[in-house]
This record gives sequence, C-alpha cells and structure tokens, in this order.
Amino acid sequence: MSSTAPVSLTRFLIEEERAGHINAELRLLIEVVARACKTISIAVGKGALGGVLGDAGQGAAQINVQGEAQKKLDVLSNEILLEANAWGGHLAGLASEEMDHAQPIPDVYPRGNYLLLFDPLDGSSNIDVNISVGTIFSVLRCPEGVTRPDDSHFLQPGHAQVAAGYTVYGPSTMLVLTVGHGTHAFTLDREVGSFMLTARHLRIPEETKEFAVNMSNQRFWEPPMQAYVADLLAGKEGPRGKDFNMRWVASMVADVHRILTRGGIFSYPLDAKCAEKGGKLRLMYEANPMALLVEQAGGAASTGRERMLDVVPKHLHQRVPVFLGSKREVETAVRYHTEHD
Ligand code: AHG
Ligand code: MN
Ligand code: MN
Ligand code: MN
Repeated sequence: MSSTAPVSLTRFLIEEERAGHINAELRLLIEVVARACKTISIAVGKGALGGVLGDAGQGAAQINVQGEAQKKLDVLSNEILLEANAWGGHLAGLASEEMDHAQPIPDVYPRGNYLLLFDPLDGSSNIDVNISVGTIFSVLRCPEGVTRPDDSHFLQPGHAQVAAGYTVYGPSTMLVLTVGHGTHAFTLDREVGSFMLTARHLRIPEETKEFAVNMSNQRFWEPPMQAYVADLLAGKEGPRGKDFNMRWVASMVADVHRILTRGGIFSYPLDAKCAEKGGKLRLMYEANPMALLVEQAGGAASTGRERMLDVVPKHLHQRVPVFLGSKREVETAVRYHTEHD
C-alpha cells in the first residue's frame, strides 16, 4: 500500500491511537460524531428542498433554554447527534445548547467513559440565507465512578478537554479536529462519504490585519473594548501603525475557520445587552472547544481577562466574552483590558 494514499479520518484516528494520543473508545466516539455531522451536512445541503428551513415552532416560536427561537435545523441537528451517540457505548452523558440539562445515556444502552457537549447547529441566523453554518463539539472525561452524570459533572475547565472540533457546512463540508496534538482539517469527499485529511497541523500567523466583531454593538461595549477597536480603526496613522480589514459572518464556526486558515482576531466582548448573562457566546460548547483548537494551532483564546481554557465553569450554559485568534493580536486586546482594570 503506497504511503501516499490519501489519509481518511478513520486512518488518521487509528494512527493517533497507535501513537498513544487517544484510546479506541475515544477514536470510535469521534467517528460517531463525524458520521452524525455527515448526516447534518446532507440535511443542510438540501435547504428549501429538504423542508429544513425556518423556525421550529408550529405557529408559536419554540424557545430554547438560551431564550432563542429554535430553527428546524437546530432541532434536527440536535436529534441526529443524540440518536447517533445514544447506543454507541462510548459516552456516559451528553449536553447540548438545545437541551436544558445534561442527559445520562439511557439505561438500555452500554455506557462509556466520556462526556460529549455540542452546539448542534452554530450560526442558526444564517440558515435561511444560505450562509455557512456548523456543528461544534467538545469531549471531556466522565469523573471516575459516575454512571449517571448530571450538569455538575460537565463543569470542567477547557484544558480538561480530551478532544474538540467543529464541522463547517460551507461550499465544502470540513471537519477540524484536535485530540491535543495539533489541529487538523478534513474535507468531506461526498462521492466516497469519507472525511479526508487535507491539512495537518494548522498554524495561525501570530500577527494579523483582519478583525471579526459585530460592530453594531460598539456603543454597548466596555471602555477597554472601545479603546482597542478605536485604535485599530485608526489604521496606519493610528497607534497600531497598520490598516485592518474586517469580516463578520455571524457563524462562529465560519469566522473561526477563516482565522485557523489565514489568521485574524475574533471577538464577542461583553456589551451592555448581554453583560448580565456574562456575554453572548457559551463557554462549554462554543468558546472552550474553539479555544482548544486555536491554542493547538499556535493561537490564543481569552475572556479578555483570563485564558479561556482556565475558566472554571459555574453552570452548563454559562456565557463568556471571547477573544481568540492570532496570538500577538489577542495579547494586545487583553492588554487594553488588563491595563484598563
Ligand atoms: P448559535 O447559532 O449556535 O446560537 O450561535 C450563534 C452565535 C455565533 O455563531 C456567532 O458568532 C454569534 O452568535 C453571532 O452573534 P450576532 O448575531 O449577535 O452577531
Ligand atoms: Mn453557536
Ligand atoms: Mn447553535
Ligand atoms: Mn442558538
């Protein structure tokens, strides 16, 4: 067998197991999640032809624990991931953006040693306008001796993740994954139905001229964020000495994928509208998995005042301010916050 044969996700994971980076149970869990994401990719790809657009509620909006009106694809993607993972035998429990509380694996199925958290459909506001959306997942170890995990068993800091990844449903469907030894990208070969390794060891450039933020919140930001962005917008003549470009997709997966591919800084800071909730983005199944992927690619991820992966979670759907991407730029944004406080 020539060693230049394209490497599938299955072969990659077997090689990671042989290298001692993962065990068979985690390998099989990642395969199950990837397979579920392929099913979601097919549903997303059908668009209006698949009856998957629009809101979930019949008439009255179906509101999730986040206070958001669920889209049909939020619900469908969540169901696909729950069904795929219920009987696999690799998990002790699951938690999702779309579920009020964590769920132990039903007693009828065998249990495993891992906890899976996911944002089944990230970027829901983009579903009906045909802009890239995604799925984000995070894997933790189930604490020793716990057979029926509840929310409290999921409240582990991000550095405890044993795997993290996302699938972005864009012009191509890509899976980006880390098991703690680099961040790697796979592209779905739709004819074969396999994710194929297309980039090993992604590296985020330490410097950047591209920032991603929802500028419409500018008047609600804290002073350090105001100062950071004002200096950045001053361009070459300003204190930063360079002109910046801006991108904002409003799908975290798409914005983070761009940053993992060519650098940049993504931020969703505290603002007066979301401050009492602690921020907009969720720590356990958005910020933490993305932070691990970014750090494994040589970038940085912070709340603006603390390394993201060190945050000790207080509740399952906790929200945090997010700054992540090119290491030097994140450090600059953090400096505006720490020097201001
Ligand atoms: P979700 O669709 O899973 O609820 O997440 C949406 C998040 C994230 O994907 C994106 O970066 C952010 O919301 C966009 O927020 P705005 O619409 O306020 O820009
Ligand atoms: Mn999301
Ligand atoms: Mn979501
Ligand atoms: Mn949502």
